[in-house]
Amino acid sequence: MSNEPSAAATASPAKSRLANEIERRRTFAIISHPDAGKTTLTEKLLLFGGAIQLAGQVKAKKDGRSTRSDWMAIEKSRGISVATSVMTFEYDGAVFNLLDTPGHEDFSDDTYRTLTAVDSAIMVIDAARGIETRTQKLFEICRLRDIPIVTFINKMDREARDPLDLLDEIEKTLALDTAPMVWPIGQGRSFRGTYDLYQPRVRRLDEDYDGQPVSGPDDPLFAELLEGDAHTRWREEIDLAAEACGRFDLDAFRHGTLTPVFFGSALKNFGVRDVLDALKTHAPPPLSQRAATREVVATEPAMTGIVFKIQANMDPNHRDRIAFMRVCSGKLTRGMKVKHVRSGKTMALSAPQFFFAQDRSLAEEAFAGDVVGIPNRGVLRIGDALTEGEDITFLGIPSFAPEILRRIRLEDAIKAKKLKDAVREMAEEGVVQVFNPVDGTQPIVGVIGALQLDVLADRLKHEYGLATDFDPAPCEAVRWIRSDDPAALKAFIAANRSSVATDLDGDHVYIPSSIFTLNYNAGRNPEIQFLEIKT
Ligand code: G4P
Repeated sequence: MSNEPSAAATASPAKSRLANEIERRRTFAIISHPDAGKTTLTEKLLLFGGAIQLAGQVKAKKDGRSTRSDWMAIEKSRGISVATSVMTFEYDGAVFNLLDTPGHEDFSDDTYRTLTAVDSAIMVIDAARGIETRTQKLFEICRLRDIPIVTFINKMDREARDPLDLLDEIEKTLALDTAPMVWPIGQGRSFRGTYDLYQPRVRRLDEDYDGQPVSGPDDPLFAELLEGDAHTRWREEIDLAAEACGRFDLDAFRHGTLTPVFFGSALKNFGVRDVLDALKTHAPPPLSQRAATREVVATEPAMTGIVFKIQANMDPNHRDRIAFMRVCSGKLTRGMKVKHVRSGKTMALSAPQFFFAQDRSLAEEAFAGDVVGIPNRGVLRIGDALTEGEDITFLGIPSFAPEILRRIRLEDAIKAKKLKDAVREMAEEGVVQVFNPVDGTQPIVGVIGALQLDVLADRLKHEYGLATDFDPAPCEAVRWIRSDDPAALKAFIAANRSSVATDLDGDHVYIPSSIFTLNYNAGRNPEIQFLEIKT
């Protein structure tokens, strides 16, 4: 078979430094179901990038053993990572920005927001389990933007399902075409390595990555690697695969309709480099970003960026608050003055930071596709744009209707003002959503997962000195309300004042007392849209 098509980003002297720098960037996330091997794979990817010296460090972080993740008692006590972080590393001339996402599904809105800041994703699948619920859910979020996905079928060193079966499941469950790039040779204890379907060669477990060229599937090497029946079965399987499986197609991959599939074992560091090479060769460099007035192209010279995440207390000694901003176009230089579009004010980027597995450092310069952390206290919030002057409003960071709604009860009522400010700050960080009823009654907080409430209570106590508890809210759902007919929207709000609130941006939401009421009113008001996702 001939070489696969390549979109490799090679530096060209004819292009400007800006264009070359942007072209070699790959900003991606890993999506998977818990236990499929995301942490192990992350660790191995970072090893290739030389970003960490010792395997085991990401795992240590996940287990809450490292100082970096000790910042929140709740995280430590439960041994879960609630924070999304960014890891930047270089490999083979490319700069990779890996945006990590919380493992726990209670923090899924954080994950969804992070997925809006990547240009591609690796989907890790446990070879024995196939597609699991959380993988499917995260895949659907990727599909909203047709993000290209590279699939890694992990744990081939354990008992695994039939490869054709797994490919079939991906195709059927996710409605995503597959193109196996390699084919596993054996599985479980007899997993010997992979056969490269595009440049016929065999990569053996524990051997040199470049592998050994072979003449094709009839090469005598396969009979040496797999004995008797196993070899006969494998030979039949390869013929079946050649008939049944699609070929890699760069366009289809870039449009998110086809995924190249690799098989391997993250634990044994096998197949990991294939995935990294695929990202480098085929995944897109930083994509254009949609803004209200136009598309912002990554290679435009003027710097623009969007804040997609805020994280507080990364450094417990400093009570800091870091806004994570994806640079959408141009080049960021430390010290540059930028416009904070929402407030219209100018701010200086005096200490933008890059994050590595264990460290952070000042970012002297960053290019479109990079993610920098900007220390700030209360100025930046999710969705904010920073630009070199243009009034850009980026679209596409979604808000999801929270499923758990509460009122906060303060033990010391005198601190109501402090509570209001604290809740607003945490809503700006995306820890909770807050809704202020238009009739002036007490605000309602909403979260997607119950653990978020624990985080809220914990932080109110430890950071703001507020002892609180939660009461049930007078509503069972939240829906953003919109209409093409402003008069109809106004009339609906007037008629339902006790069930309408505003969110942090001042957008109206309907907060019905029950799902029944919601459905009833939605039926009676066809001119109003009741939205579960605000984009
Ligand atoms: P996650 O972040 O997706 O939740 O998964 P993680 O990497 O933590 O892996 C979950 C478990 O699966 C770990 O075992 C890990 O060692 C194991 N694992 C990951 N990749 C492979 C692989 O390719 N082959 C095999 N055989 N196992 C793999 P654990 O027992 O939960 O943790 P540990 O005590 O081994 O660290």
